[in-house]
Amino acid sequence: MTTRATSEGTASRAPVEAGRRIVRRNVVPAQWRSELKSVLITEAQIRRRVAELARAITRDHVGADLLVVPVLTGTIVFMADLLRHLHLPLRLDFVGVSSYREGTESRQLTFTKELRLEVAGSDVLLVDDILDTGNTLAELQARLGRLKPRRVRTCVLLNKPDRRERDVPVDYVGFDIPNEFVVGYGLDYAERYRNLPFVGVLHPDRYAPA
Ligand code: IMP
Ligand code: MG
Repeated sequence: MTTRATSEGTASRAPVEAGRRIVRRNVVPAQWRSELKSVLITEAQIRRRVAELARAITRDHVGADLLVVPVLTGTIVFMADLLRHLHLPLRLDFVGVSSYREGTESRQLTFTKELRLEVAGSDVLLVDDILDTGNTLAELQARLGRLKPRRVRTCVLLNKPDRRERDVPVDYVGFDIPNEFVVGYGLDYAERYRNLPFVGVLHPDRYAPA
């Protein structure tokens, strides 16, 4: 008899020749139940959507001099998956940004890693984990634009349309999500939860808005 996986990511003895059995479940795994309210997007849903995004990106960049610019740190898991589905020659250069809220209104962006590669003349794909108020991506798009790329396209895994403060053109969006604080698949709260393989909603009592 074969060993059956009981949930995604826990199939410790699944036979390799049969492949990993995916069981869709939106139940929060036991070890996270006190911290997370729900699983919003499962591993399987993410996997399918990332492959779709990659197909569209590949199709739109055939013959281009593609420079992929992901924003640290929330994009690392998404990028590791997306990159392996991009069937194109490309260069990769992360940009590092942190945002600190000053009081409740203004938000100061600090660059923790500048671009190293030449941007001029390239087709840039700017990638972020989540589009929230839009302040981060609006600023990054403006900065990249000054480096004279041939064109800049923008890709986000998640989009919270209700929170927008700045108009930000985006070309590829994984999922539109409600206005709840999400973690996992690279996204953090206070630098935690980035390693969750799914996107989950934090219990509101765990989240103290800045
Ligand atoms: P924006 O400048 O308001 O669009 O903020 C984008 C950044 O805020 C993202 O790159 C995330 O780092 C962070 N962020 C916004 N919403 C969430 C969330 O629900 N979970 C985790 N990080 C978030
Ligand atoms: Mg971020």
